[in-house]
Amino acid sequence: MKKILVTGGAGFIGSNFVRYLLKKEANIEIVNLDILAYAGSLENLKNLPDPERHYFIQGDICDAELVGRLMREYKIDTIVHFAAESHVDRSILGPVPFVHTNVMGTTTLLEAARQAWSQGQNGHFHHISTDEVFGTLSADDPAFNESTPYSPRSPYSASKVSSDHLVRAYFHTYDLPITITNCSNNYGAYQFPEKLIPLIILNAINGKALPIYGDGLQIRDWLHVEDHCEAIYLVLKDGEMGETYNVGGGNQPTNLVLVNEICSILDTLQPTAVPYSSLISHIRDRLGHDRRYAIDTSKIEKKLGWKPRYTIADGLEKTVQWYLDNMDWVEKILKKKNYQAWLDKNYQQ
Ligand code: NAD
Ligand code: TYD
Repeated sequence: MKKILVTGGAGFIGSNFVRYLLKKEANIEIVNLDILAYAGSLENLKNLPDPERHYFIQGDICDAELVGRLMREYKIDTIVHFAAESHVDRSILGPVPFVHTNVMGTTTLLEAARQAWSQGQNGHFHHISTDEVFGTLSADDPAFNESTPYSPRSPYSASKVSSDHLVRAYFHTYDLPITITNCSNNYGAYQFPEKLIPLIILNAINGKALPIYGDGLQIRDWLHVEDHCEAIYLVLKDGEMGETYNVGGGNQPTNLVLVNEICSILDTLQPTAVPYSSLISHIRDRLGHDRRYAIDTSKIEKKLGWKPRYTIADGLEKTVQWYLDNMDWVEKILKKKNYQAWLDKNYQQ
């Protein structure tokens, strides 16, 4: 692993990973390909450690000519593929871009890797996927493991399923060296505030309603983004080709419990006359809302020695503090990306 193509490296998890890898490995170079769609921003890539080992290219993973040229010019030996349309609510309002980017974009990258590495150069294609491919669980179902059949229920998760299947097909058909991680809901610094945790933090400090879909008893497993980066790094170092690894934070709060926890952290860090939880507002449920996700991480723990370092309590406190300390980042991100139009569209009742 020397010349790494990171796709979507100006987004939330990708930018955290670029930062993590530059710090962790002194001898690698990163080519970061990102189209700078609404959730991607160069603001996420400021103050990188060793920035001279990072080359940013604004471009589309669906552009076969561009991707092929980057593979050749930079002699890429590793691809870490984050780029995607990533928000379930946006996929409900408009599924087509999800199919285009997540399915066609992944296939374009796989083709470029197959061509570049067919001449004898060793390679590694790592694909970032989600636990949402497994569908939904009821209260007593066992957690998802790597053999759980796929059962996607949103346009987003269906598009991620398609990309996972294509990645595996390239392994079986062309011997392309691939690995996949299916991880749970990430949270932490630099997350675009359309996702639950940053949305709640920002609405709360602005005195706005905290929107809870339906009864708020849906359950997610929350993974701190730095723990996720470490898991990806271990798979890149020691993962077995053709294998999939599930990654999760090992917790199971309901959305209501999580939002109340954020409120009580804010009550301590930035107290107001009334508790923040008084802003909680139940609104119309998400269409096809998955009830519960839970993830069995025993494979990556046993095979690669990974374990999450963050508890949800520590991770949430650090995240809330990060947003409070980085309001200039928030302002820049929201100004550029037409965020208000999204809120108006998604939250109109
Ligand atoms: P994000 O939306 O913050 O970032 C996605 C990035 O991809 C953005 O920078 C965007 O500009 C870029 N991008 C989009 N279309 C592109 C294109 N056509 N060409 C090049 N770049 C493009 O998403 P994220 O939360 O960082 O998610 C990264 C990956 O992790 C995705 O594949 C997602 O499915 C997966 N994932 C995310 C979570 C989570 O909780 N955030 C959980 C499980 C899996
Ligand atoms: P989200 O962060 O969108 O991630 P995902 O849909 O990939 O799990 O949502 C996390 C949970 O929070 C999910 O059950 C939907 C719920 N949610 C709300 O209740 N209100 C909101 O405004 C948002 C964005 C999400």
